[in-house]
Amino acid sequence: MIEAIEVTKSFGDVAALDGVNVSVPEGSIHGLLGHNGAGKTTLVNIFSTLLEPTAGTARIRGLDVTAEPQKVRRCIGLTGQFASVDEQLSGRDNLVLIARLLGASKRQARTRVDELLELFDLSDAAGRPVSQYSGGMRRRLDIAASLVGSPQVIFLDEPTTGLDPTSRLGVWEIVKRLAKDGVSVLLTTQYLEEADRLCDRITLLSKGRVIAEGTPGELKADVGQRMVTVTLPTQTEVPGAVKALEDSGIRAIPQESGTTISVPVTASADLAAIVRTLNEARTEITELGFSEPTLDDVYLRLTREPTGKSVPA
Ligand SMILES: Nc1ncnc2c1ncn2[C@@H]1O[C@H](COP(=O)(O)OP(=O)(O)O)[C@@H](O)[C@H]1O
Ligand SMILES: [Mg+2]
Repeated sequence: MIEAIEVTKSFGDVAALDGVNVSVPEGSIHGLLGHNGAGKTTLVNIFSTLLEPTAGTARIRGLDVTAEPQKVRRCIGLTGQFASVDEQLSGRDNLVLIARLLGASKRQARTRVDELLELFDLSDAAGRPVSQYSGGMRRRLDIAASLVGSPQVIFLDEPTTGLDPTSRLGVWEIVKRLAKDGVSVLLTTQYLEEADRLCDRITLLSKGRVIAEGTPGELKADVGQRMVTVTLPTQTEVPGAVKALEDSGIRAIPQESGTTISVPVTASADLAAIVRTLNEARTEITELGFSEPTLDDVYLRLTREPTGKSVPA
């Protein structure tokens, strides 16, 4: 349905994408997960014919995006990270405008727009100018706008970035419903939790390369379902504590900054082992907590394998 084969995109010296492979079956939600600058928007732009790949092939429903961009455009919906509805127009007028641009009659446009306003819980606000919408309403309108043409494939570029938790849940519900209706969704996100909740499969991008691919369960199993976070009094104690843990065969991941170490755990006995090991190493623990793995944990795990024999800095 959505397919990238060895897609590369260079901007001068910058390789925004470097031999990326992605394959999304019909009716599924695929997550493109990665930090700022990973190449997510570039790939979405290639799929949606806004950019041409430097090398490789991208296809939507078997249509090559470079060879048949017009046909591709007819079956996709795109919601950009910086989506473009008209602030001065009402929500309804924005959607009607798009429907008319796509060739709908006035009557068809009205029917489709009413349907979408209802679906996105925007009926009450439909007559108000978009400039008065909240962030969540605005984002729902953006997604509605990309669905006016009833596309079989939709791209959502960071659909929940900047939204409050309630609005985020609203967007998640919408995305799930789309997939249920058979729409294939490619969604980009910086949040592991979001990819975990929504996606059938995830492609993890780092600096333009695919560094992992799999179901959310597979990716998280790799970092441990849960983490124990150990906070030490000062940062200087971190390397020693990491070494003590790793010498005892416990994988320990120092967080980028601060005094916290993450330890993936599988069994509750692990918690006792962590405390015992640090106790024996005479390391004071100021705080002990549980946390779900974050994108950072997955990255650290995949890009920096602790050896268990590392010498403290
Ligand atoms: N038009 C462009 N010109 C030059 N560099 C670009 C352009 N678009 C993106 N890049 C670079 O490509 C890399 C990937 O960017 P992008 O796809 O926007 O990442 P993401 O969406 O994951 O944050 C970044 O290093 C970015 O600076
Ligand atoms: Mg982006």
